[in-house]
Amino acid sequence: MKLAIFVSGSGSLLPGFFKVEKESSDFTIECVVANRQCGGVELAQAAGKEVLVVNQFDEQLLNYLADHMVDTICLAGFLQILPANFVKNFPGKIYNTHPALLPAFGGKGMYGAKVHQAVAEAGAQETGFTVHEVTENIDEGPIVFQKTVPILPTDDWKTIEINVKNIEKDFYPLVIKGLGEGKIMQTP
Ligand code: GRF
Repeated sequence: MKLAIFVSGSGSLLPGFFKVEKESSDFTIECVVANRQCGGVELAQAAGKEVLVVNQFDEQLLNYLADHMVDTICLAGFLQILPANFVKNFPGKIYNTHPALLPAFGGKGMYGAKVHQAVAEAGAQETGFTVHEVTENIDEGPIVFQKTVPILPTDDWKTIEINVKNIEKDFYPLVIKGLGEGKIMQTP
């Protein structure tokens, strides 16, 4: 797999991808794309990755990705809606991880702390994360993997967030690797 990782924030999922890349022969991170200067850009540069900061998801970016032979895009805390015109160039090859069990707690405006706050307010007994295919509709693409994380009555939203992120950071790159190897099947 030749990956591009898209970030907008701290890049907390990047180290997990770098680790899997080191341990695998057919899993390379060709570039990190950010839609603004952010912690993820710094992390990627520190790891020696090629980084592109862009705010247009257009032909130029498509050419850049093609030059880098990118075949799979992983959104990793990427907070911009990708235009349908861009998405259609990677059919079934753009993935996102959402920090809750979709279809609950997803959709427009549901990202970051807001997700965990909503989960806590709902009094849910479990949460988790969902890896899904990206389509033009927010958080509605086919689900490819979910993992649950239990919630204790004493957990506040910050604890919930920490617990989800702890699991997600290790699993997300492995799920992507598993997809590439045909070990994880997408739902039809
Ligand atoms: C992850 O929890 C992921 O589910 C969500 O963004 C978080 C990573 O972003 N999409 P960041 O590294 O904390 O900015």
